[in-house]
Amino acid sequence: MPNYAEYLKIDELLALQQPVSDGPEHDEMLFIVVHQVYELWFKETLHEIDYLKGLLAHNDGARAAHTLKRILTILKTMVAQIDILETMTPLEFLSFRDRLESGSGFQSYQFRELEFALGRKDATALERYPKRSAARARLEQRLASATLWDAFLRYLAANGVVVPRADLERDVARPVEASLELHAPLVDIYRTRPALAAVCERMIDLDEGFMEWRYRHVKMVQRTIGTKRGTGGSLGADYLLTTLNRPLFPDLWTIRAEL
Ligand code: HEM
Repeated sequence: MPNYAEYLKIDELLALQQPVSDGPEHDEMLFIVVHQVYELWFKETLHEIDYLKGLLAHNDGARAAHTLKRILTILKTMVAQIDILETMTPLEFLSFRDRLESGSGFQSYQFRELEFALGRKDATALERYPKRSAARARLEQRLASATLWDAFLRYLAANGVVVPRADLERDVARPVEASLELHAPLVDIYRTRPALAAVCERMIDLDEGFMEWRYRHVKMVQRTIGTKRGTGGSLGADYLLTTLNRPLFPDLWTIRAEL
C-alpha cells in the first residue's frame, strides 16, 4: 500500500510552483497556486462532464442529476476562488506581471475544452496551438465530439419528448445555436414533466454558473489592470466584456417568457 505522499504524489505536486520573478515577489506564489488549482478543477469538471454524457446516453436520469449537482458545486467553488486572487492589489500584481510575458488564461486549453464540451465550439481557437501538439489534438477531439447539449437533447428524445430532427442531427462541430422548434417541447416539459424539468433547471444552473465565473473574472481584471491590454494580446477587459451574457443553452432561457 502506498502511503499518503506516494499515492498523491505530493513531492512532485509541491515541486511544480516555480516563481520566475526576482526575489521572488511574494504574490507570485498565490498567482501560480490559484491558476494551478483552477486547471485541476477544469480537469475534474471535464472528467465529470464526460461521465454525465454517458449517464444521459444510458437514460440514467437520477445519476445524471447527481453528477450535475457535483459539477455545479465545483463551479461555485471556482467562482468563490476569485475572492482569493482579489486580495492581490494592482501594485502587487504589477510587481511580477512583466514576467508573465504573453502567458494568459486565454491560452488555457482545458478552458477551451470545457467551452467545447458545453457547446461553445469555435474552430478558430485551435489555431492558437501548434499543429500536432497535444493541446491541439485534445481540442480537435473535443471539437468533433457531441456536446453536453447534444447528449441532453438525445436524453429528452429517449424519454418521449419530440425533439426536432434538425436538432438531434445537427453538426456537433458547430456551436449550439437557438432553435425555435425546440420551444414547444421545452415548454411542454416544464408544464407536464417535473422530473425532466428538474434536469432542465440543473442545466440552466450550469449555464448561469459559467456566466457568473466570466462576470467575476472580468471584474477582477478591471480592478487589477483596469483598461490595459491583456498579456494574451487581447484588448483585456474590453474583450472579456464581449464574452458576457452569451448563454450556452439559449433556448432554456428564452422559453421562460413563454411559460
Ligand atoms: C490577476 C488575475 C488575472 C488577470 C489580471 C487576468 C487577466 C485576463 C485578461 C486581460 C484576459 C483576456 C485575454 C488576454 O490576456 O489578452 C484573460 C482571459 C482569461 N483568463 Fe484571466 N486573469 C487573471 C486570472 C485568471 C485566473 C485565476 C484564471 C483561471 C484559470 C483565468 C483564466 C482566464 C481565461 C480562461 C481567459 C480566457 C477567457 C475567454 O477567452 O473567454 N484568469 N485574463
